[in-house]
Amino acid sequence: MADQYENLMEKIVSLSKRRGFVFPGSEIYGGLANSYEYGPLGVELKKNIQDEWWNAFVRRRSDMVGLDSSIILHPKVWEASGHVAGFSDAMIDCKNCKTRTRADHLVEDYLEEHGTDPAKYRIPDVFDPAGSGFSGREEIETIVKSGKVEGLKEQQFDSLIQWFKVPCPTCGKFDWTPVRKFNLLFETHIGIVPEAQSKAYLRGETAQGIFVSFKNIVDSSRVTLPFGVGQLGKSFRNEITKGNFIFRTLEFEQGEIEYFFDPEADDWQKLFEEWKKSLWDFVTGDLRIRTENLRWREHGDEERSFYSKRTEDLEYRFPFGFKELWGLAYRTDYDLTQHQKYSGLDLSYQDPATGKRIVPHVIEPAVGINRLMAMVLLDAYAEEGDRVVLKLPPRIAPYKAAVFPLLRNKEELVGKAREVYEGLRKKFLVAWDDRGNIGKRYYAQDEIGTPYCITIDFDTLEKGDVTVRDRDTAAQERIKIEDLEDFITKKLS
Ligand code: GAP
Repeated sequence: MADQYENLMEKIVSLSKRRGFVFPGSEIYGGLANSYEYGPLGVELKKNIQDEWWNAFVRRRSDMVGLDSSIILHPKVWEASGHVAGFSDAMIDCKNCKTRTRADHLVEDYLEEHGTDPAKYRIPDVFDPAGSGFSGREEIETIVKSGKVEGLKEQQFDSLIQWFKVPCPTCGKFDWTPVRKFNLLFETHIGIVPEAQSKAYLRGETAQGIFVSFKNIVDSSRVTLPFGVGQLGKSFRNEITKGNFIFRTLEFEQGEIEYFFDPEADDWQKLFEEWKKSLWDFVTGDLRIRTENLRWREHGDEERSFYSKRTEDLEYRFPFGFKELWGLAYRTDYDLTQHQKYSGLDLSYQDPATGKRIVPHVIEPAVGINRLMAMVLLDAYAEEGDRVVLKLPPRIAPYKAAVFPLLRNKEELVGKAREVYEGLRKKFLVAWDDRGNIGKRYYAQDEIGTPYCITIDFDTLEKGDVTVRDRDTAAQERIKIEDLEDFITKKLS
């Protein structure tokens, strides 16, 4: 299991920096919280995960098309979507150490540490429902039992924090400001026009770009309902929270799909189940994540957005608990209707066969590629004897193979190895290593997830074959040089 190793997260953070997957953001200036740089291996791994996503959900499906919309959209987009008014987190400040914390994380972490049995907590017997923000004891007990408090009102957080005497996780004191809402959208300004007119936002989700282009997609392509639009790209959120490595960052890559359908022609529950299966198959099949580390969790009424009829999160067991990996929501016709209202344009869809006009409904699967990458690294990590192995699926591993000359001071071995290396590089990303003994070179490649190590030795010069060593089993076999490309290609299929 992913968390069988003590300090697994620390090990992944350290390996990522040491081997060039992920570096702390702006490190030479003392760092920037919740930001990271993707190094030479990290950028390859991330790109491979993106490619898997794009191939699985856009290219291989006849009911999907792709889009690449702007990061900066017209500011009215975010008014229409509700982000300007409501895209916020409840925050609380510690008056003693000045640390700002997300109120939901504060209470959830506290419940996780102290348990979710309501009997353990001092919930007042007599309290003022209006003053506390809760309707009664039953509501509070249900929340405590669930361990989930996302979506509560400021006043409700204040009550829980007061009743449970939740201390500051940084300094341990109990000296809080009231809970307040902070908007997560990053504001920016365009050009030199007066400030009020120039205000714009970096997109908080890629989804809105899809709704904004809906009419153009329908008018320019031969899509008919039901169909989906997939988009990969950066989103930005002013996250003031402990980020847990690349799990939660200020900027991140999203992979979002809006799947449009006519609710009278298609059963939304059936489509929802089909999407659940597609996401599960992708995570357990393409990314080969262990099923025991995954679960579905349905949002309760308090947590679910007001426009959503059903929301389920596919959660992964990160070292800091089961957390959202992928959100799946039935957003009804909320977004297109809002954009009709704010733009004044008709965004309805006309059925080419019947002429019927409707505003389509959508089911939205939304994931963070960086979060997928964090999961992939954690799930692939293994310690076997004195070696560390990243058991990445070969298709997403940064290097598909590494080529070694047995000895670095034998010109004929180095020359032959170079030939093999250059040949394979035309097709795959391949590593070269001629330092230290072969055992050390194997271990160095294991740690970065290279599935195959190819050694050129004296027999190669005579017989034209090489030793290929498998990362996961450490088994070795001899393969002809001319068969190497086929051998690797088959392993990637
Ligand atoms: N359009 C819906 C939407 O954006 P969300 O649950 O806020 O929904 C979708 O985000 C996914 O994006 C999440 O499940 C998560 O994988 C990823 N995500 C959200 N915020 C993130 C952050 N600050 N850093 C990394 N990934 C994030």
